[in-house]
Amino acid sequence: DESKIGVKGLVDSGVTAIPRFFHHPPENLPGPKSKSRPQLTIPVIDLSRDRSTVVEEIRRSSSTLGFFQIVNHSVPPTVIDSVVNSLKDFFEQSAEYKMRFYHREAGKGAAYSTNFDLYQSKAASWRDTLQVRMSPIAPDWESVPEMCREALAEWDKAVVGLGEELMSILCEGLGVKTSKLQELSCLEGRVNASHYYPRCPQPELTVGLTSHTDPGVLTMVVQNEVGGLLQVKCGEDWADVEAVPGAIVINIGDLLQMMSNDEYKSVQHRVLANPVEGARVSIAVFFNPSKRDGVFGPFPELISTAKPAVYREFVYEDYMKRFFSKELDGKTLTNFY
Ligand code: SIN
Ligand code: FE2
Repeated sequence: DESKIGVKGLVDSGVTAIPRFFHHPPENLPGPKSKSRPQLTIPVIDLSRDRSTVVEEIRRSSSTLGFFQIVNHSVPPTVIDSVVNSLKDFFEQSAEYKMRFYHREAGKGAAYSTNFDLYQSKAASWRDTLQVRMSPIAPDWESVPEMCREALAEWDKAVVGLGEELMSILCEGLGVKTSKLQELSCLEGRVNASHYYPRCPQPELTVGLTSHTDPGVLTMVVQNEVGGLLQVKCGEDWADVEAVPGAIVINIGDLLQMMSNDEYKSVQHRVLANPVEGARVSIAVFFNPSKRDGVFGPFPELISTAKPAVYREFVYEDYMKRFFSKELDGKTLTNFY
């Protein structure tokens, strides 16, 4: 049916049984939830507290769970609401409209797809995605859906300021120069991925996003009020990321785990298929280095005879080539260096 596109289109056509193509193998599926244990959640950190408290709380969360939420940060609630609502609006446009943005060539302006990771996955997931590369080269705004342009530009401006503050705090927590990550161009390679998770009629058979770690330095996520679907691996359990109004979810990527010589942890996370009526909308910003020929590895300051380098050095471009290759096959990049 040409009038339908994406997972949203399937939902609108009234499917009650999801196509086989979406069935995931049992090891990807959440299974029944244990009712006996209280559900774990990730910590919420108040960024307006004194600097040393904030540095310590962020250091602790980054060294254990690899995830935390921040409140009282510098991004105005209106900026978050606008970007979430404008993306929701895009995903709910007609198939004809969305088709104009449908391609898999990331880097060529906005790319709308259902399942951007389709070729690397064993099965499709219950999600639609719009990706926009924000920097080091600004997007061709003509290629970005009209209703998202202003909100995405405002959001991106705000996340750069917050990213700078967080990178400085994370460096301080490691005891290295606070400008170190910024000097390594880690604020400059920003990719925005917006996800739309409509209600799934058989959420026990599929997922919203399969378990993975993020390859880059740092990720920021905002989400609408449909919380608890993003989950973080915590030992044998999964911790829920609850919807906290105005909060921003932060997680450590593989590259920062390696630069920190395993002081900070890049942790597996996933999104469950959405069982409720309203769609979940999330916006993720990936902070990567922009210097493709840059050499990365554990910071020399963090290497000693007591704590030798856990990783070898590598060129960022080779690292990312490996990420997009089939070589990974379920492993994370930290396995290769
Ligand atoms: C999400 O919360 O929807 C996405 C999280 C991620 O990119 O891993
Ligand atoms: Fe992720």
